[in-house]
Amino acid sequence: MRLVLLGPPGAGKGTQAALLCRRYGIKHISTGDMLRAELLAKTKLGLEAHSYIEKGELVPDSVIIDMVKAKLKEPEFKNGYILDGFPRTIAQADALEQFVKLDAVIYLEVDFEIIIKRISGRRRCPDCGAIYHVSHYAENTCSCGGVLYQREDDKLETVKNRLAVYEAETRPLIAYYSQKGLLRTVSGEGSPEEVDAKIAAMLVP
Ligand code: AP5
Repeated sequence: MRLVLLGPPGAGKGTQAALLCRRYGIKHISTGDMLRAELLAKTKLGLEAHSYIEKGELVPDSVIIDMVKAKLKEPEFKNGYILDGFPRTIAQADALEQFVKLDAVIYLEVDFEIIIKRISGRRRCPDCGAIYHVSHYAENTCSCGGVLYQREDDKLETVKNRLAVYEAETRPLIAYYSQKGLLRTVSGEGSPEEVDAKIAAMLVP
């Protein structure tokens, strides 16, 4: 199964990707996580990407497309995957179409006010990548032992810019994939488990 999770920042793409991977035994590919790993390793790519991420801007298409193309060639992805955060522009979607046949694009629809609340309380584990929210999890430590942190691009001003960039660059993908008959729209509101159940019901052939 080859899926794309589409939706605004904070819609719950990472949260749902983890649940879908468990359900279908497929791999999660998050371009945001890949870029953060590059930054942590202080690679040339990571340092270049950082100047965009910290402002809430998109990393240039050519950089991202090459990174994803290389990733998808790895053998662990041969049985399927969920792309989270890619594609985010029409150019990225056109490029993806050249080397992948997608089964579906799941669009998580969430009101912007809810998104702001979700992102402002998000905490992430640097070791295993688990995602938490302060309203559901009051601890500072992940179940794996990692010390939770707040992403630097989760500051309110940066989040507002990420949402504006989403509107301008990524929202057009809804019509793009709808025209191709691949779009499946799901309300991303409700608990993570409720959203997961809606997606699972929709993916049943
Ligand atoms: P990226 O890391 O991909 O960020 P994003 O797309 O903005 O999405 P988020 O990770 O913020 O949110 P999410 O939808 O995964 O929500 P989550 O599950 O965490 O990208 C970061 C940056 O990298 C970009 O700004 C850009 O600079 C660069 N980049 C990445 N990909 C790129 C590309 N393709 N092209 C160019 N640049 C790229 O949930 C959020 C919070 O809500 C959590 O606290 C969670 O616990 C909570 N939550 C989730 N679901 C629910 C629910 N149903 N109910 C209640 N709470 C919930």
